Amino acid sequence: MKKNIALILVATVLSLSAVFAQKQSGSPVNVVINADLGQYTISKHIYGQFSEHLGRCIYEGIWVGENSPIPNTKGYRNDVVEALKKLGIPNLRWPGGCFADEYHWMDGIGPRDKRPKMINTNWGGVVEDNSFGTHEFLNFCELIGTEPYISANVGSGSVEEMAKWVEYMNFDGESPMANLRKQNGREKPWNVKYFGVGNESWGCGGNMSPEFYSDLYRRYNTYARNYGNNRLYRIASGASDYDYNWTDILMRKAGSQMDGLSLHYYTCKGWSGSKGSATKFDNTEYLTTIAKSLEIDEVITKHCTIMDKYDPSKRVGLMVDEWGTWFDVEPGTNPGFLYQQNTMRDAIVAGMSLNILNSHCDRVKMANIAQIINVLQSLILTDKEKMLVTPTYHIFSMYKVHHDATLLPISFTSPQLEVNNKKFPAVSVSASKDKNGAIHLSLVNADPMNAIEIQCNLRGAAASAVTGQILTSSDLATHNTFDKPNEITPAIFKDAKVDKNGLTVKLPAKSVVVLELK
Ligand code: AHR
Repeated sequence: MKKNIALILVATVLSLSAVFAQKQSGSPVNVVINADLGQYTISKHIYGQFSEHLGRCIYEGIWVGENSPIPNTKGYRNDVVEALKKLGIPNLRWPGGCFADEYHWMDGIGPRDKRPKMINTNWGGVVEDNSFGTHEFLNFCELIGTEPYISANVGSGSVEEMAKWVEYMNFDGESPMANLRKQNGREKPWNVKYFGVGNESWGCGGNMSPEFYSDLYRRYNTYARNYGNNRLYRIASGASDYDYNWTDILMRKAGSQMDGLSLHYYTCKGWSGSKGSATKFDNTEYLTTIAKSLEIDEVITKHCTIMDKYDPSKRVGLMVDEWGTWFDVEPGTNPGFLYQQNTMRDAIVAGMSLNILNSHCDRVKMANIAQIINVLQSLILTDKEKMLVTPTYHIFSMYKVHHDATLLPISFTSPQLEVNNKKFPAVSVSASKDKNGAIHLSLVNADPMNAIEIQCNLRGAAASAVTGQILTSSDLATHNTFDKPNEITPAIFKDAKVDKNGLTVKLPAKSVVVLELK
């Protein structure tokens, strides 16, 4: 009898918790999608990546060398190449970050065993043997089918060094640098387009004032020559977060000589002290991270407003070439390597941030999450011969449908979440129409507890079928491990239907859903 009562109690608790988990917040959220009012293209480059000589990003993450027991093709690890080819990343920034302003490219060419070594002073003080240099990077980009984005050394390099690098990579003909490239085994130039002139020049890139850097930018930029038909897309080192003065001065003094101006934005509150664990966090920490990640919307808007003042035709792109979550390093790992795990919380941040970046695609022409492998909000993690893809990888994969699609204007009022007396939306939506006329919606429900029903009015288009994918997990801290690499993977989403009233979606708590409407 006692046993039966206990069983009944357990069953009741379980069913109550199931009801609780599926609890729905309030009335449906009405979303209007203006399917006939699309104006701007979501550049695929918003889905760009960043690789830095930092921790195990390059060495072990991408490059293991030809003699490694880890299966590789010409030194690049096969599992990573395969995962990145599958993802179709549009561009890859290299070699930094802070590392870029201490990097001397000539140390990274020629026979590997003769390349000089250096100390990576920014990241752990480890020895950098320069075995991964210009050829290794640019050939890697060709291998995985992505556009390189080079970040040149302004902080500790010279104009001559930078000018020669461009000549080395891009000149097709007889010249000292082109001949040197050929001597090193590469006949044809790589025709690099995306070219950053310095990184964080207000900080690790030289601690400059905006006035000083603007002049320096103009000088360096003058000697970054265009060769043949290749036109460099020149990106000036931009502001961090809320430094609107930097953007103002750069645009005023050098705006006419740049194609892009960068912006860096991370979710951590400050640079010193603990940033919290990547995998062990409470509800308040979760909501604080989400609130901070959503603030990028306002930050971008404010930088754009300044850019509009000097460049109303929006010729200069805002390049958010570093963004993402930044937590404490995994216990027991080198503090200088910035290695962190990646959970469902990161997936929510990625989904919401990409929706915001899409929404600014009239001005935002590129974004690069930091960093692609083994550092900060990575898409891939490795442990020697093992590799896994993170929840953030899955978001980038699900969101591929937005690449180069037309942004569709939407309007809705989201239910609010609250932390530290700050209210912010629980729901984030982005819609686009691709070249074949298919409409895609990416929807995020950041509410950790409540499902939310979405009622969509598809204005200016008709749809008769909907399919979709969902990424969610029972716990926000769920992550893939080397022992269980598929703890969190996308699944087919069945809770969306289209009928005469439009589209109805039941978004579970803490989920990211991508739908295709036809
Ligand atoms: O992503 C880590 C570092 O953060 C980069 O090297 C630097 O540009 C930024 O401060």
